[in-house]
Amino acid sequence: MSTPDVMNKIVSLCKRRGFIFQSSEIYGGLKSAYDYGPLGAELKRNIAQEWWRAMVHEREDIVGIDASILMHPNVWKASGHLAGFSDPLVDCRNCKERFRADKAPKATPGTPTKYHKGGRTSEPEISGVVGAVGYICPTCGSSDLSDERQFNLMFRTSIGPIDPIEAVLDQIQGKQLTRAELREKLDLAVKETAIYLRPETAQAMFVQFNNVMQSVSPKVPFGIAQIGKSFRNEIVTEKFIFRTCEFEQMEMEFFCEPGTHEEWLSHWTAERVKWWKRYLNNGERIRLRQHGKDELAHYASNCYDVEYEYPWGWDELEGIASRTDYDLKKHSEESGTKISYFDQQSNDPATGKPGWRYVPFVIEPAAGLTRAVLAYLVDAYTEETGVDAEGGEKTRVLLKLHPRLAPYKAAVLPLMKKDGMPEAARSLVKEFLHSGINARYDEQQSIGKRYARHDEVGTPYCITVDHQSVEDKTVTIRDRDTTRQERIKIEEAVAVVRGKLAEA
Ligand code: GAP
Repeated sequence: MSTPDVMNKIVSLCKRRGFIFQSSEIYGGLKSAYDYGPLGAELKRNIAQEWWRAMVHEREDIVGIDASILMHPNVWKASGHLAGFSDPLVDCRNCKERFRADKAPKATPGTPTKYHKGGRTSEPEISGVVGAVGYICPTCGSSDLSDERQFNLMFRTSIGPIDPIEAVLDQIQGKQLTRAELREKLDLAVKETAIYLRPETAQAMFVQFNNVMQSVSPKVPFGIAQIGKSFRNEIVTEKFIFRTCEFEQMEMEFFCEPGTHEEWLSHWTAERVKWWKRYLNNGERIRLRQHGKDELAHYASNCYDVEYEYPWGWDELEGIASRTDYDLKKHSEESGTKISYFDQQSNDPATGKPGWRYVPFVIEPAAGLTRAVLAYLVDAYTEETGVDAEGGEKTRVLLKLHPRLAPYKAAVLPLMKKDGMPEAARSLVKEFLHSGINARYDEQQSIGKRYARHDEVGTPYCITVDHQSVEDKTVTIRDRDTTRQERIKIEEAVAVVRGKLAEA
């Protein structure tokens, strides 16, 4: 299947089956914003739950927090986001597209270019020459481009009952101001109430370091984890939910002794790759890529991306960075609050005396939750061709989601809407739900169509209540991937599914 084909099929399935909808669709939709429907919300929750289980509940050395999205503006000053969290923005003077210079197609300066006026193929061709910047417009191929300017990706809003526009109006009314003077007044007025939607969840773990230390007294090495929304005013949003302005992250800051950070970086890259592969059918579609020196963020001394082979090629899923002591030191300086760790067991390497106070180094596995939803959907999407009852070719579409990620774990299907079958099926669904296993009752359409529907949403087990069930209290359980069925006692159905989920 070609790239657009498979992506189109996944987008269509997501809408048809209630995984992901365009945001505000009845108003024409909001570009690159998405809502998770009944099945998508379950899938996203299940991924988050598996991450939390592996990163927090199964480890004694990591605790979780849930911080607010709005933080003190100085957080972003200290972290470097206010000054440097920007992308180089360029306008194409020909087709008016706005794009990121660092993602534009490269071309050798001085090379002749040909492109259509306004980017429309019906318009005449124009000749140009690639400028010293060494790239062309990704949309129309034009070399007629504006200068690059830095565009800060943080969403700015204001807090409090003051309207910054009113404040500016009061100051400028009746005055003749130059553009620069006006700009200065505007900047000042906005600054007073400016507050930002967090562009990463990470900073809360640094800012709350002292509170976590004082409240639960962890010993270094230890980590603080968080799952939550982040916001970036991306210049280019792309590929369905791959890059959006509002997204969710699963981040963990692991604080360790200086000098042990490379060891912990190796540990966490291995752990994280293992975690991703555990839920994938195609483990070979995961790889690690080390950042080149020119790619490293301002706070990082080393970094690996966990990449997934999406339909369009290898691309980022998670970044695992060695952030040194940059963030804790910056927040300490900016806030005037001492942030450090005192290790009573070790000698200070500088003096050789017992007790060592230091600023911990940080390893940060930072994964995208919404991006994980896409990767697991891509991995699970499967088409199988077979032969139908009349000998014609038929295609079975299924989502081979890992059972722990699947929105519904079991569907309970009465073969017919009579002879006590619906009642027995409903009673079994109740049992599943009381046991904390998300199961669904489904009696609509033929049994074949119901199997097909549940294959398409990734339900791993379909349990059918038939005539025999009423007689001997047994049901059939069908495996989504093999379509094989076995007969089990109805009273054991919940335990059988629970056992399969535990083994998966
Ligand atoms: N605290 C470090 C940090 O935020 P990042 O590489 O910018 O690092 C981590 O982000 C992960 O968050 C990425 O690997 C990606 O999975 C996800 N992510 C980042 N920007 C995103 C966006 N605009 N849309 C969806 N996911 C995004």
